Amino acid sequence: MTNVLRLAIVDPHDAHREALKRMLLGMDMCWLEAESSRYEFFSDIVAQTHPEVGVIGLDADPQKALQLMQNLRETSPECAILAVSSSTDGQLILKAMRSGAKEFLTQPVGIEELLLALERIAAQRAGGSQGRGRGCKILAIAGATGGVGATSLAVNLGCVLAMREPNSVALIDLDLSLGDADVFLDTIPDYTIVDVVQNISRLDFQLLRRSMTKHSSGLYLLPRPVQLQDISLITPDDLQRVFGLLKATFSHVIIDVSKAYNRVDMSALQVAHEVLLVTQLDLPCLRNVVRLMASFEAVDGLKEKVQIVVNRIGLDNGHISLKKAKETIGRDIYWRLPNDYRVMVEMRNNGVPLVDQAPRAAITQAIVALAEHLSGVIPESEPVTPDAKGRWLSFWGRTKARTGTLPPA
Ligand SMILES: Nc1ncnc2c1ncn2[C@@H]1O[C@H](COP(=O)(O)OP(=O)(O)OP(=O)(O)O)[C@@H](O)[C@H]1O
Ligand SMILES: [Mg+2]
Repeated sequence: MTNVLRLAIVDPHDAHREALKRMLLGMDMCWLEAESSRYEFFSDIVAQTHPEVGVIGLDADPQKALQLMQNLRETSPECAILAVSSSTDGQLILKAMRSGAKEFLTQPVGIEELLLALERIAAQRAGGSQGRGRGCKILAIAGATGGVGATSLAVNLGCVLAMREPNSVALIDLDLSLGDADVFLDTIPDYTIVDVVQNISRLDFQLLRRSMTKHSSGLYLLPRPVQLQDISLITPDDLQRVFGLLKATFSHVIIDVSKAYNRVDMSALQVAHEVLLVTQLDLPCLRNVVRLMASFEAVDGLKEKVQIVVNRIGLDNGHISLKKAKETIGRDIYWRLPNDYRVMVEMRNNGVPLVDQAPRAAITQAIVALAEHLSGVIPESEPVTPDAKGRWLSFWGRTKARTGTLPPA
């Protein structure tokens, strides 16, 4: 998981502040909590928003800026100060350090030095305390062939994770031509991934959240473009920036990748911490798993992140056995999802996630257990099996308060 630093910035010099802000917004390790153009207000802003780093531009009025640093050292000692100035005067640097600055950067600030300074601050904080609780897990859901159940899993896993405190979860539909995550969630989004990509430089975290569609489970959706022509506007580089922003904003980002395995899909697989590759127990699917795994070897670290999820177990007596499937693909099966066509079709047609539509169904419980497992609630070694009543429901004890039917704990 990636830790995220929350920052606040003050610089009366608009151009300097905007330049720094743009740089910070593009960094996946940063969350810009607040900004100000007045030194006078900054102590209060820090006291209210509790950023981990205060970025202070000195050029507009070095004396006031130094005084502000001294105040912050007293009132908000947990906020690490990063001073920025056009001056390289040794006396000023010394004064800034004595006033409490942890880092001093000279204008124009380069992205690498800024990143290094922030990493030093992050490392100090992690070493000095329990570490920061915030972080983001990026899960890519891929499929071994069309219609294998990848979107069903992505949407329902997203809803289950979103209902659990203190998660905040985003689902990105990267099936850019035919994606249907919005249908599963019965939503008509105002904005799509194209709007976010086109406005990335002026997006802050508030605006990003407002550009996404929030489902009643708490899940935020960033859907595929409306027009096919708009797909060409999305490049892997743009996507990296979108992922950077999402990483700093959400605790979980779930990416429903397309079956094209194009450049956009591959960039998502690279950025993911874990890839769930959904397959069924038939020969074409298993053969594709083998082919995909062989191709993934060409990408550094990708193969190791892939976990095999077998969907629709029990669909067909003629299916290949799990044992044979394991031998064929040469990997363990990470998770098994039972077949339940009626429940799944109703869920999609009604646009109601499984946790609401069929909370007690075996397929729902298997996805709930997967969410628990991914959240580290169930240790790796512990087998995930239902209790005597067929329940996997310890998870529900910690769900967010919400309307809708929840199964008993
Ligand atoms: N465990 C399951 N049991 C029964 N039916 C299922 C199961 N999982 C998915 N389905 C059904 O399979 C169909 C395809 O599912 P889904 O759209 O999630 O697959 P996909 O891999 O995202 O497809 P695409 O390649 O079109 O993106 C749907 O009708 C869905 O209801
Ligand atoms: Mg799909």
